[in-house]
Order: sequence, then C-alpha cells, then structure tokens
Amino acid sequence: MVISIINQKGGTGKTTTSINLSSGLCQQGKMTLVIDIDPQANATTGLNYETTQGHLSIKDILENGIDPSEAVANTYREGLKLIPSNIKLSVTAEQLYSKVFREALLSKALKPLSKQYEYIIIDCPPNLGVLTVNAIYASDFIIIPCETSRSSLDGINDLLNVIALIKGKTFTNYRLLLTLLDNRNKLTNEIVMDELAPFQEKLFSTVISRNEALNQSQFAREDIFTFDPKSRGAQDYQNLTMELLRHEC
Ligand SMILES: Nc1ncnc2c1ncn2[C@@H]1O[C@H](COP(=O)(O)OP(=O)(O)O)[C@@H](O)[C@H]1O
Ligand SMILES: [Mg+2]
Repeated sequence: MVISIINQKGGTGKTTTSINLSSGLCQQGKMTLVIDIDPQANATTGLNYETTQGHLSIKDILENGIDPSEAVANTYREGLKLIPSNIKLSVTAEQLYSKVFREALLSKALKPLSKQYEYIIIDCPPNLGVLTVNAIYASDFIIIPCETSRSSLDGINDLLNVIALIKGKTFTNYRLLLTLLDNRNKLTNEIVMDELAPFQEKLFSTVISRNEALNQSQFAREDIFTFDPKSRGAQDYQNLTMELLRHEC
C-alpha cells in the first residue's frame, strides 16, 4: 500500500508523521519503505544517521530512470528502509514539467517495489507542484496532517480539489490528521472542530498533540519510540499506527 503524507503548507507535521508512522509500522513487523520527495530532505536527514551524500536518490529514479531498488538505503531503525532525497531534486522537478506523462513517473517506478514492501510512505514537499502530483497519482491512500490554524484549514479544500482532479471524484481514500494540537487552547480547538465538522467521517480518531519530545527527537535524529517511548508523542503515533492497521486504510 502506497501512502502519501500531503499538505501544501509547511510545518503541519508531514515529516514528523512520515518518520514516526513508518517507524510504528516497522515496529509492528511490517516491511516499510519511506520515500522522501521533498528537496529539503528533512525525512532523509531525520532517518539516516549516515550521510546519504553520494548515495543514489529519488532524483536518479525520476530523472534517469534507474532501478529504484538501487536507491534504497538503510535507516537507523533496523528493517526500515529509505529512498533519500537531496536539494538537487528541485532542479529535477523543474525539468519534469516538460516531460510527457510526467505525473505517472513515480507510480511507474514504484511498481516493482510495491511487491516487496507492505507499506510505502511518501513524505511530500509543502506545495502542490509536480512532485506532489506524482505522489498523489501513485497513492492508494492519502494522509493530510492539519494543524489548528486558519491557513491550514483553508488549504484543505484546495488540496481535495487537486486530489479529485488527479484520482477522480470517486476517490475517497484519504484521512485528515489533526496535528500539533495544544490541549490548553480549548476555545481554538472547539472552533477547529466546528470547521472540520463537514469532514467528520474523514478524520482520524487519533489526534497528535503538541509534544516537545517529538520536536527534540528530530534534533536527536531518532524516531519517537527510540527517543522517548513513554512520551505523549510516542503514544499518539502508536495510536495512529494501530488505527491505520485496524482499518487497513
Ligand atoms: N506534535 C508535535 N509536537 C511538537 N513539535 C512538533 C510536532 N509535530 C511536528 N513538530 C515540529 O514542528 C516542526 C514542523 O514539523 P514537520 O514535521 O517538519 O512539518 P512539515 O514536514 O509539514 O513541514 C518541526 O520542527 C517538528 O519537530
Ligand atoms: Mg517536511
């Protein structure tokens, strides 16, 4: 199953979710691969102790059509694999605009890998450009992390329109995930829940609270289960993993 983590806004918890959901799935014994398609490469630096400089990356797959299995790297978590990204991917993205069938490149490349991995998690950049369009095209399921701000909520309809354009209006295999929730801001949270009422059926019941351990774990370059398994963040991402597995979304 290919799952993309998408929101065109930055800082909504996409990379944090990619790293910790994939670690959670891996802990449950699932063969899991993370694909970083963000030129900022935060999932790559977050998951890989060793420098991936010189290692083949998603750029080589999209630009040169190399065998994708050659670009698979190890992460600090045993069993969890990564196809890394780097800043040069931004140049590739510009070049892709002139290619025929450009939106299907990633989907085609993933075909052989989807036999090998039960879950492929794609960490997307904060825009709706050609890389995100490739991820949507390749996805069986889409997770949209939203934080509780006006601009984050305003972007949801735009994103859903783009998803409908690419996958067709009948595609409903997406869920919104509330992230960075501050439990002290009761009034804001009520307003947010009202705004999200039309999406009620599309919300994960799991909510990711704001938790400093999640932020610190990224400095330590560890997933939350390694960094602080007793933290609220570890509990939240464990719940998300189990909810995903329960519903086999
Ligand atoms: N639940 C959370 N609690 C505290 N900090 C978080 C949480 N989720 C993400 N962060 C922090 O917020 C910042 C943005 O998160 P990130 O996952 O990189 O967002 P995105 O990939 O959508 O840009 C990072 O510094 C990250 O450590
Ligand atoms: Mg990110």
